[in-house]
Amino acid sequence: MTTAAERTASHQPISPSSGSHVPIPPSSGSHVPISPSILYFGTPVALLTTENPDGTDNLAPISSAWALGHTLVLGIGAESRTAANLADRPELAVSLPSPQQWAAVERLAPLTGAHPVPASKRAVYRHEPDKFGAAGLSRLPSQAVRPARVAECPLHLEARVRSLRPGGPDDHFRIVECEVVRVHAAPSIVLPGTEHIDPSRWSPLLYNFRHYFGLGPELGHGFRSETATGSQRE
Ligand SMILES: Cc1cc2nc3c(=O)[nH]c(=O)nc-3n(C[C@H](O)[C@H](O)[C@H](O)COP(=O)(O)O)c2cc1C
Repeated sequence: MTTAAERTASHQPISPSSGSHVPIPPSSGSHVPISPSILYFGTPVALLTTENPDGTDNLAPISSAWALGHTLVLGIGAESRTAANLADRPELAVSLPSPQQWAAVERLAPLTGAHPVPASKRAVYRHEPDKFGAAGLSRLPSQAVRPARVAECPLHLEARVRSLRPGGPDDHFRIVECEVVRVHAAPSIVLPGTEHIDPSRWSPLLYNFRHYFGLGPELGHGFRSETATGSQRE
C-alpha cells in the first residue's frame, strides 16, 4: 500500500482522507505582516479581443477574471483601450492560453491599444495598433460575436457584456459582467465523446506575482467531478 506522500510524488491523485496525512507546515503565529505592492496570487491569464472604433481589433492580457455558471466577471483598468471598446461595442472573445504561450503573452505586456498612451502608463507602455502581429498570434473568426479569437489558444469563450460599472479607488477599473454565449475547445483537451474539458490535459497559464506558471500534477478531484475515472472515484 502506497502512502499519500508517495502517491503525490508519483503524480497519482489522492483522496481527501489520505491527503490529510500529508504534514501541513506550522502556520499559527509564524506569519509576518507584509505590504506587497501587488496581490496577483496566481490567477489564469486570459486574452481579450475587442473591437476598436475603426473596426480593427485590440488584444489585451488580463488575469482578473472569474466564472460562475456561464457568467464571466472581468476587472479591467479604466484607462485601457479594452474598457473603452467594451463600453461602446459590448462583445468580446476570451482566449485562454496554455503555459507554453507565456512568451507571447509577455510580448503583449508593455503594449496598449490606447492612443495617445494615457499619462499614467506612458513610462512603461507603448501604443501598438496590431497586437496580434506584435505577439506573433493569429486571428480565428468568432461565430457569435465580432471580435476574433486567438487561434493558438486551446480554449475560447465568446461573450457579450451584460453590465459595466466603475470599481476600485477613484473608479480606476471597470467591473465587467459578461454572458458567455459560445465555448470552443481544441479536441486535444476534450474528453472524447463528452462535452467536458479533460482536466488532466488542460492547464491554464497562471499569473503568480508577475511570474508565469502552469499547473503542477493533479492532487485529487472534487466530489462533484464529472470527469474522474473509475479508479479515482474509489
Ligand atoms: C499577465 C497579465 C495580466 C494582466 N492582468 C490585468 C487585469 O486583470 N486587468 C487589467 O486591467 N490589466 C491587466 N494587465 C495589464 C493590461 O494588459 C495592460 O493595461 C494593457 O495595456 C491593456 O491593453 P489595452 O489598453 O490595449 O486594453 C495584465 C497584464 C499582463 C501581462
